[in-house]
Amino acid sequence: MRYELAESSWGNEEIEAIHRVIKSGMFSMGENVKRFEADFAKKFSVKHVLMLSSGSTANLVGIASLFYKKNRPLQRGDEVIAPAISWATTYYPLQQYGLKLKFVDVELDTLNMDVSKLEQALTPRTRMVVAVSILGNPCALDTLRAFCDKHDLYLFEDNCESMGAELGGKPCGTFGDLGTFSSFFSHHISTMEGGIMVTNDTEIYHIAKSLRAHGWTRDLPADTTIYEKSDDDFYEAYRFILPGYNARPLELSGAIGIEQLKKLDKMVQIRRNNASIFTKLFAGDERFIIQRENGKSSWFSFTVILNPRFNIDRKKIMAAMKDAGIGHRIITGGNFLRHDVIKYFDYECVGEIKNANIVHDRGFFVGNYPRDLSVEIERFHTVIARAAN
Ligand SMILES: Cc1ncc(COP(=O)(O)O)c(C=O)c1O
Repeated sequence: MRYELAESSWGNEEIEAIHRVIKSGMFSMGENVKRFEADFAKKFSVKHVLMLSSGSTANLVGIASLFYKKNRPLQRGDEVIAPAISWATTYYPLQQYGLKLKFVDVELDTLNMDVSKLEQALTPRTRMVVAVSILGNPCALDTLRAFCDKHDLYLFEDNCESMGAELGGKPCGTFGDLGTFSSFFSHHISTMEGGIMVTNDTEIYHIAKSLRAHGWTRDLPADTTIYEKSDDDFYEAYRFILPGYNARPLELSGAIGIEQLKKLDKMVQIRRNNASIFTKLFAGDERFIIQRENGKSSWFSFTVILNPRFNIDRKKIMAAMKDAGIGHRIITGGNFLRHDVIKYFDYECVGEIKNANIVHDRGFFVGNYPRDLSVEIERFHTVIARAAN
């Protein structure tokens, strides 16, 4: 029996939704995307929602939109505080828009940014903090929000790994000036490829809406404040105001998303049930450091870090998992500073990046998905407990 890293969460409803779109013959962004956005806004109690082609393009369009605000836009050379562990496309738009990164280490147990280093990271050029809740586990969003408010900084929330998570009863992804989500395969909802950007700021929403589709004005309402509409319809139909992208989602993704969103709460609950089995089995065994939940995690996966206090060889553990057919991988992307691409970044580290290196060298995760995984998790525990002896 294999224990895969991910499994499809689709049922007949998603397949039927695909067929309906195929039958309609309308594939590019339209009514299904609009309805998905409206459903998402309602579910997460946010004012504005934009569906995009991926979580990565949601990050790109989101960061770009802050450069075109009328008041206090971001500018090249501004500094951004970010955790040392996240996905590569959390960081790429920051580099592409000429921002300087200040990397902060993570906590070994939550895997999220160590917020005790925030004051140390702050300089007169700091303009933004990027908050990332790793693998379903809320980062210290309340502390980060208060820090940003105090110092007049933007809070950008990359919540691509943590749909369905909550801190203090508030959904992760909604603490930032804007937040992003991913609906890639294996995420909490899956629309093949897909991303979502949310904000309560109408100006940011309109800028992002233009940037999503060629930087044109066509999708904007007449009363927008980001440009002045003329009465010449001929030119208005193809009027470009911002250097944008084509980051639009397909109708297929919108239609699938509508169905997946209906199932989100149930799917997250099953993930949490699996997590309680995982934590019961591993808690108390000091050889393995598992993710400490902060708030309510939506448990993307199950992470294990081989405690440096014990001399356990990760290669041996990985070989045992391979033999047992247990899929495993690096935690998110490990320490981002260890990747070749870092040579293109303007960055500094805030103090020592110690824990991210331990995660990189001694960590891995196995899959969690909305199906009862009690048998798989117990077998996983048996396999690695034996291999670690
Ligand atoms: C933290 C984070 N940000 C962004 C992304 C990018 O999302 P996508 O794969 O939809 O482009 C991911 C992908 O898993 C992620 O983990």
